[in-house]
Amino acid sequence: MFALKDAPTDLPKPEAYRDLAAQLDALLAGERDFVANAANMAALLYHALPDLNWAGFYLMRGGELVLGPFQGKPACVRIPVGRGVCGAAVAERRSLVVPDVHAFPGHIACDSASRSELVVPLHRDGAILGVLDLDSPRPNRFDEEDRGGCEALAAILVGASDPF
Ligand code: SME
Repeated sequence: MFALKDAPTDLPKPEAYRDLAAQLDALLAGERDFVANAANMAALLYHALPDLNWAGFYLMRGGELVLGPFQGKPACVRIPVGRGVCGAAVAERRSLVVPDVHAFPGHIACDSASRSELVVPLHRDGAILGVLDLDSPRPNRFDEEDRGGCEALAAILVGASDPF
């Protein structure tokens, strides 16, 4: 049985993300189902990363983003490409770090506690499968180290799972 380690708060961020990547590798080992792996990854990140109120996925289905596995309060189900932070990250094909969601035009407020956000597209063979979305109640919670760390974690999920 996989044992979740507490977030190592004293580690520098790059080291903490390397530790988390090793935990994610172990958590996904032996299972190729994308939704099952995404669900466990959402739970891992929600409990291991400090100051989050939402961690989860929106998956591309029929040309739009549809809510996938997550931890946190119930969220909006469908997001058109180009709308909100998630839709903008897909349209721009890159991760977006939003220090203040109230200042982001078109931000979709699912949980009014959210103040900052990081969205990382899931790439496979040139296609975008969906996005990893992290929300924080703390303004300016995410930086470039979080972006790089979460891009590496997203790549682990895609590599460890079959297409859905
Ligand atoms: N805030 C996101 C919507 C998803 S929720 O945060 C879970 C957005 O603007 O795309």
